[in-house]
Amino acid sequence: MTTPLRVAVLASGCGSNLAALIQARDVGNLPVKYVLVSSDRPAAEALRIAKAAQVPTLALSPKAYPDRRSYDLELLNHVAASGAEVLVLAGFMRILDGAALRPWVGRAINIHPSLLPKYRGLHTHRRALEAGDNKHGASVHFVTAELDGGPVIAQAHLEIRSDDNEKTLGERLLPLEHRLLPAVVSLMAARRLNLMKAGVALDGICLKRPLSLKEDYQLKR
Ligand code: GAR
Repeated sequence: MTTPLRVAVLASGCGSNLAALIQARDVGNLPVKYVLVSSDRPAAEALRIAKAAQVPTLALSPKAYPDRRSYDLELLNHVAASGAEVLVLAGFMRILDGAALRPWVGRAINIHPSLLPKYRGLHTHRRALEAGDNKHGASVHFVTAELDGGPVIAQAHLEIRSDDNEKTLGERLLPLEHRLLPAVVSLMAARRLNLMKAGVALDGICLKRPLSLKEDYQLKR
């Protein structure tokens, strides 16, 4: 049996993706140990969810720091001190400084509610609707200093309906996010994913395109 992967999570908001990660571990689908949940918003629901699950928490407000880099260095020092091997950004709404992030490249992943490279940044559901897209989705990618710009590992796809609006689209996508993120963390826990010069590799073989979340919630090439 492999040792559980030590995972730290950063989250700014409701924490539903964090809750899905914790649940996946609790039902035995994810051999991980959550060593820290940190938030830039002390009132974030994510911190409450972590505390309820007896995961160590850290609320670190950027207000006390002179600039982004000093905050990010401090935050990622705490993450390193937690013993985390992997860092998961689950609704963390800040860009991380490149220098602070350097030790984590290849070990940090982020979930984003669009089919990257489409719609980096905010309001992704609205932008997909405004563009007249008929497909939407979510992506998990390795984090780099570029906003939502790192190599994409896996995606969940969703048909856009003619009666969808920003709210319904977001609500229909979120449950897929809750499957996608634990599925990717599971590959990391099995030590099957790597970031190589040529891109994302699964079992040592570079992906030609992101893995896709299928109806059985398995990731397929
Ligand atoms: C999720 O939809 C996640 O994909 C998105 O924030 C939401 C957090 O929800 N992340 C981003 O937009 C990052 N660029 P949650 O707090 O309920 O997990």
